[in-house]
Amino acid sequence: MLSHSFLYRKFAGMTAPCFLITLIFFVSSCSEPNEPVSSSYLVEIPDPFVQNKLLAKTINLGNALEAPNEGDWGVVLKGVYFEKIKEVGFTAVRIPVRWSAHTSAEFPFIIDPVLMERVGWALDQAEKNSLAAIINIHHYEEIFSDPLKEKEKFLALWKQIAEKFINRPTTLFYELLNEPHDQLDAELWNNFLDEAIDTIRAIDSTHTLIIGTAEWGSISAMNKLILPQEEKNSIFTFHYYSPFQFTHQGAEWVDGSNAWLGTSWNGFQSEKEVISLDFLKVKTWARQHNVPVLLGEFGAYSKADMESRIRWTQYVARSAEQDSFSWAYWEFALGFGIYDPDINTWREPLLEALIH
Ligand code: BGC
Repeated sequence: MLSHSFLYRKFAGMTAPCFLITLIFFVSSCSEPNEPVSSSYLVEIPDPFVQNKLLAKTINLGNALEAPNEGDWGVVLKGVYFEKIKEVGFTAVRIPVRWSAHTSAEFPFIIDPVLMERVGWALDQAEKNSLAAIINIHHYEEIFSDPLKEKEKFLALWKQIAEKFINRPTTLFYELLNEPHDQLDAELWNNFLDEAIDTIRAIDSTHTLIIGTAEWGSISAMNKLILPQEEKNSIFTFHYYSPFQFTHQGAEWVDGSNAWLGTSWNGFQSEKEVISLDFLKVKTWARQHNVPVLLGEFGAYSKADMESRIRWTQYVARSAEQDSFSWAYWEFALGFGIYDPDINTWREPLLEALIH
């Protein structure tokens, strides 16, 4: 991979003690007394393990900005949602965004300023309510069928996003791509993520990155993921919807899922063990790689029975917490929703299963 560490380049000539101090304090503390300090040297690199605590209880604001156009799937973000989310105890929001559908047709793939401003507005709402925020690239469908053709655009998106939001507080996180799959396989994904990190770090040294696996963000691809060695400010993420026949029963976008209707999750020891073992695998891998973990999506669709949904959601959330994973429930106000936007009310039992 290219040498991407802006910070390492920047501080190449510095003595080791000064460099270490820089990780905690501003460079100005190492400068000669009367030497002017350039603002570009005011670099503070957050500790990703500390950062991950900000994401402890996250809600996915799904089906809004990653729809072809906001509102197409029935969800339009409102300022009051952020207030309510904060009020009940969530610490962060994950905001999926379909950037790829809102750019100019050719290089440099200029992002539509209307979408850019809308995302900025959502980040303002998060900041105003002291919520951390994750933005990602979501539903970039073309990259999954023809990754090499789309690579230039993928990198152009990150360049513009990093330039636009560089001055936002470090409570903003960048997640590189939602659920790589199909032709964007694990091997190619390692290469794409290296280049995306290079692109972001050439502009922005401070915001914490969130890096997931290929194969739809699942654990199955974890051992194939190569985390770039030089990148120390990142969090590992995976998605968990197992047993899939339970969480996705009757899901309109999953062929054959009507046959699974009626599948329950009873919280039997044997059912719990499957989840615990999966999480143990993640925990072990993350320890080996010295990286914190975000369970970036989990949830059971509304066609499953509510009692089972509550049991499963509670067990998954508590298991994540025990393993020191932060978590992000999928999602706020639609098919998996814990909030009913028609009557402006939380679905209390599900909310309690999450936030106890
Ligand atoms: C997808 C959603 C889907 C959810 C659960 C998300 O990553 O973007 O469309 O509802 O996973 O399947």
